[in-house]
Order: sequence, then structure tokens, then C-alpha cells
Amino acid sequence: MCGIVGYIGDDQAKDILIKGLQKLEYRGYDSAGIALVNDNGVELHKEKGRIASLEEAIGNKGIGTTGIGHTRWATHGAPSKENAHPHQSISKRFTLVHNGVIENYQQLKRDYLQDVDLASETDTEIIVQLVESFAEKGENIDEAFRHTLGLLHGSYAIALIDNEDDETIYVGKNKSPLLIGTGDDVNVVASDAMAMLHITKEFVEIMDQEVVIVKKDNVQIRKLDGTEVTRDSFTTDIDESDTEKGTYNHFMLKEIDEQPFVIRNIVQKYQNDDGDIKLDDDIRSAISDADRLYIIAAGTSYHAGLVGKELMEKAAGKPTEVHIASEFLYNQPLLSNNPLFIFISQSGETADCRGVLVNVKEKGYKSLTITNVPGSTLTRESDFTLHTYAGPEIAVASTKAYTAQMAVFSILAMDGARAQGIDTDFDAIRELGLIANAMETLCDQKDIMEQIAHDFMFETRNCFFIGRARDYHVVQEGALKLKEISYIQAEGFAGGELKHGTIALIEDGTPVVAVTTQEHVNLNIRGNIQEVVARGAKACIISTEATKEEGDQIVLPNINELLTPLLSVVPLQLIAYYAALHRGCDVDKPRNLAKSVTVE
Ligand code: F6R
Repeated sequence: MCGIVGYIGDDQAKDILIKGLQKLEYRGYDSAGIALVNDNGVELHKEKGRIASLEEAIGNKGIGTTGIGHTRWATHGAPSKENAHPHQSISKRFTLVHNGVIENYQQLKRDYLQDVDLASETDTEIIVQLVESFAEKGENIDEAFRHTLGLLHGSYAIALIDNEDDETIYVGKNKSPLLIGTGDDVNVVASDAMAMLHITKEFVEIMDQEVVIVKKDNVQIRKLDGTEVTRDSFTTDIDESDTEKGTYNHFMLKEIDEQPFVIRNIVQKYQNDDGDIKLDDDIRSAISDADRLYIIAAGTSYHAGLVGKELMEKAAGKPTEVHIASEFLYNQPLLSNNPLFIFISQSGETADCRGVLVNVKEKGYKSLTITNVPGSTLTRESDFTLHTYAGPEIAVASTKAYTAQMAVFSILAMDGARAQGIDTDFDAIRELGLIANAMETLCDQKDIMEQIAHDFMFETRNCFFIGRARDYHVVQEGALKLKEISYIQAEGFAGGELKHGTIALIEDGTPVVAVTTQEHVNLNIRGNIQEVVARGAKACIISTEATKEEGDQIVLPNINELLTPLLSVVPLQLIAYYAALHRGCDVDKPRNLAKSVTVE
């Protein structure tokens, strides 16, 4: 949450920083700002709202070839111009941007800054005031910066400039993501490589508790104690065009449409030339040696975990539990003797997951991360990683990452079944091929989903989603998609549970979306649909060729029942998209949310 950028080179920095911030807007969009060093000192611009408002406010101003920028998701202090970054020290000598949370900021204020009148309500401002107070006591800036970072408890990615020096950006990192991009006579700072692909594809990873002195022709990494660190750069394979909307109006629709390609890509990446599953032997052994798998995730990734559990248990015979990361951290169940922890995270940065990872590592347990972002914090800190190869997901509402996570689980389940000599006809590779084709057909039927969104969700205040067994998992995801982007109160329920309370909420015209893709519970859920219709609900039914009845709005082709969530979620994603669109919502950037949730 929050994104930072920095630029130092020969070109004017303003447009480069603004473009970088636009690429980071998925990390938060409450307010934004940039600061540039020029002959007059530091030129500061910040605004409440989106980057577009900042850009408009800056207009033709903004001179300087060294600068830093920030896009904010508010934690301490409401979204406002005063709380927007960059923050400046009292004398205005130092200017700083920060992504993260400083847990001990009140203590630091009491211990070191009693006499300083803060200009904002943020935890961040403490950092810049501390640097100034140490510099005033005679420390050089390098010492003052490291001294300050040494006092901070919490997470930070920081970039700091000094109005007396336009040739340096001081950078520090702990727990929040941060990369330095390198080029010829130009270097950049970014929370995510995507932000600076217009400048370079060459990046150096920065580790926790390191500081970096960035000049245009030199990058010097040090530990907090001052010892120098050398580290090779890597070339990112992210294509800049993957981070653009192209002909689409919204990233979300583009990403929904990309799902068939993503599924085929996963099949390719996890298959060797003989058509067998390609998986690291260490991962294979970790799974077969474990007596129980514990899947840990949040939000949409948690919903993928629910399906992952079914796959690992039903296809591979592996006992599996799924837990919400933020709950597991403070309320752990009894663990088995030899657990393997599997973290699912699109971003690989989710603080709730990282909290659990740190905790289980301390206990000596092994961990595997399934993520869309190689090099992310969870991948660096867990024992093994599996990549979902979905390409950058930019819309805040996750779509292709969810189906990709389930696809990777299907491959793990098939491999697990083979490794354990289970006699099964479950062929994930073949099924994924069929699913990719069927997804394409669904994506071509957008007019049907748009009509459903219009007929069922245009005016409603609430909407219920029901399903049983595996369909229950997918309706929870369908409800989350709808509520987060359209602000319709939506919940996913197990069909059989309605009569135990929720059915009291059904009124004339209440929309109920039912998913029925499994023959063994088709009659049961059909009964539940009748119960709500009898009380005035309007039902929209998604079934398969095997479970269909006359009047069902969407009928999916038959695929292996274990994998139907990969398909049945596509109409739910599209219905949510069109519902939000028709209600005039900001589809890609829903209110109050950010894509990468790096605070607990
Ligand atoms: C919803 C959504 C969130 C994320 C959750 C976990 O559309 O995207 O619920 O799934 O914040 O994020 P990751 O997967 O990055 O750990």
C-alpha cells in the first residue's frame, strides 16, 4: 500500500515520476505528490485525490532532474493535502516519501521531537524530522539517515532528498518492497519494477535493513551499520505493454479476457517436453513428506485456497486446511507433526500472510509460496515458490490471478496423486486446455452477462450468491467481486444454510445468483432456489450441461467437476464488472481499497 518512486538523471524528472506513479496507483490513490530539487531548493507539489489531480495542479511547473514521488493509501491520518507525501522537515532542508507503517512513531516523537510542531497527522513525518534533528546535531546526512532508520520499528520503503544536494537520493528499506533501477547516467527508485519500465528493465533488489545512496552514475548499498554490500542486478521480463490497458477501457475487463491465455501459459510452464508435469523435486518431496498442508491466504486468494484444498484432498489424498491469514496469526489451530505451509498471494506482499510466514519459520516449518510476483517478499522468505505466470494484474479486483492460482493447484494435485501412486483419471493438463477454450467462449458472451447485470443488479441494494460444496467456494468469490467494485451489499452462502437465518432477508425482487455445477448436489441447490423464489427472490442460475434445467441463464460446458470454479467464476466476474460499470463506479480503483495490502 502506497507506492514510491525516485529519479536521478539528465532528463526533467516530473513527467517520469508522474508516469511512474500512475503505474503504482493500484497501491493506493487517496493522495499523491512529488518533490524536485532545483536551483531554488526543493519544489514540492501534493494533492488530495488521484494522480490526475496532481498532474493538473502541477501544470507547467515542476523543474529538476532529481526527484521523488508518492501515491498514498491512508493509514495514519485521513486522506488530505497535509497528510499527503512528500513530507518536509521544519527547515525544509529534507523531503521524504515513505511506504509502510512506523509502529513506534508516538514514542519517537516523545523521545526526540518534543519541541517540534508537526505539520501532519502521519507516522511518516517523524522520520524526516528525526533526520533533520540528527543533522542539526552535527551528523552528516548519511549518518543522520542511518541513525534514524535504526530507531524505526515497523515497515518502510523510504526515499529522501536534501535541498543542498541535487545529486543524491537516500533510500532505505525494511519489510516494504523496493527496487533500484539502473541505467546509463540514470538511476531510479520504485516500489515495483512496473513503475519504471519506461526508463529501464535492469533492477537491483534491496533487502531489509539496507540503505542505498543513489547518484545518477552510481548506486551504493550499505547495511544500517555502514558496511558495504554488493549485489548483481537482474533484468525483469515484464513487458511494458502488459502494464497498459491497450484498447480496453478498464484493466479488469482486459484481465478477465486474458484468462484463457494465462491458463494455457501455466500448462506450458508446468509441462516438460514429454508432456509430464515439470516441478522442482524439492517441492514434490515437501508436499509428499508433509502429513498435512496448511493453506494461508487473504481475500480472493483465500477463495482460491478453498478450491485448492478440495483439489489436494480429493485428487491427491492430502489432508489440507485453509486459513484466513489475519485469523491464523492470532488464533492458531493444533498443528500436525509435519505440516507444510502454502501461502497464496497474487502480490506476494500481503502483510497478514507475511506475519504467519515469519511465525511458522520461527517454529521451523517449511513453506511454499504460490504467487504472481517473483522476487516479492513472500517468495524471498519462504523455502519454495511456484509462479502463477498471470502477467501483471493491475485492476484492484483480482480476476486472472484467482483462476491462475487454482490452475497451479490443479497441477500440484495431479502431481501429488501421481507421486503417491493414486490411481486417478484426473488429468489437470487436459482439463486446463478444455477450460481455456470454454473461458474464451464465455468471454465472447459479454452481452449476456451485461444484460444480467442490468436486469438483476442495476437498482438493488443487496444481492445473495448461493452454492453448495465447491460452488459455495466460488459464490463467495462472486460476492466479493460484486461488493468490492459495485458497493452492492453481496454475500455468498452455502445453499443449505439459508433456512437457518439468512432467508429472513429475502424480499420481493432480491437478486439471488445460484451456481450449480455438481450433479450430486444439483437437486439440493435447486430446492434452495425454490425456497428463495417462493419468497419473492429473482434467481439467476449458472449451471452446466450436466446440471442444466430450462430457464437457466448461463449453461457452462461439462468439465471435470473438481475444476468447475475456474469456469463458473468467469460469468460472476463479468456480471460484477458490468454491474459496477452501470452504476457508474470506478471499476479499476474501488473506494477505500489498494491492491497490495502491506499493512496488518
Ligand atoms: C479482491 C482482492 C483481495 C486480495 C487480497 C490478498 O479482489 O484482490 O481480496 O485477494 O488482498 O491479496 P494477495 O493475493 O496479493 O495476497
